[in-house]
Amino acid sequence: MKLLIVNGPNLNMLGKREPEIYGSQTFEDYFSKLQFKFTETELSYYQSNIEGDLISKLHEGDEGFDGIILNGAAYTHTSVGLGDAVASINTPVIEVHISNTFAREEFRHHSYLSKYVKGIIIGFGLKGYDLAIENFLMRD
Ligand code: DQA
Repeated sequence: MKLLIVNGPNLNMLGKREPEIYGSQTFEDYFSKLQFKFTETELSYYQSNIEGDLISKLHEGDEGFDGIILNGAAYTHTSVGLGDAVASINTPVIEVHISNTFAREEFRHHSYLSKYVKGIIIGFGLKGYDLAIENFLMRD
């Protein structure tokens, strides 16, 4: 099983950024733990603060991956282009948000991605990525 994790803007700041919301762990540390936990799964990780680069990565992820775990971060709520990119690929996508976006500002309640994804995991902290991997490993 080959899975691609794609993280959007400001998620490179995890560990430093608003730790009361996002926790104090860097994504790199967390990703090493994921690799250690899911040894049978080939995990790749990509982060960008640039909308077009995220779109291009999703296009690339249409070949050679069994699933994509996408945290579009702020672009989730603003980017028609990111939503169109998810719609344009056949690889199944699970949308993840670390925080419970519905318990936050109203502008975080709408997602341009959700209509096109296999499922959504919101508000379980970084554990949400574990849950998404476990879902891809489950047989339908
Ligand atoms: C986020 C929630 C978004 O509203 C926010 O812009 C982020 C992170 C989350 O994982 O909780 O950057 O996607």
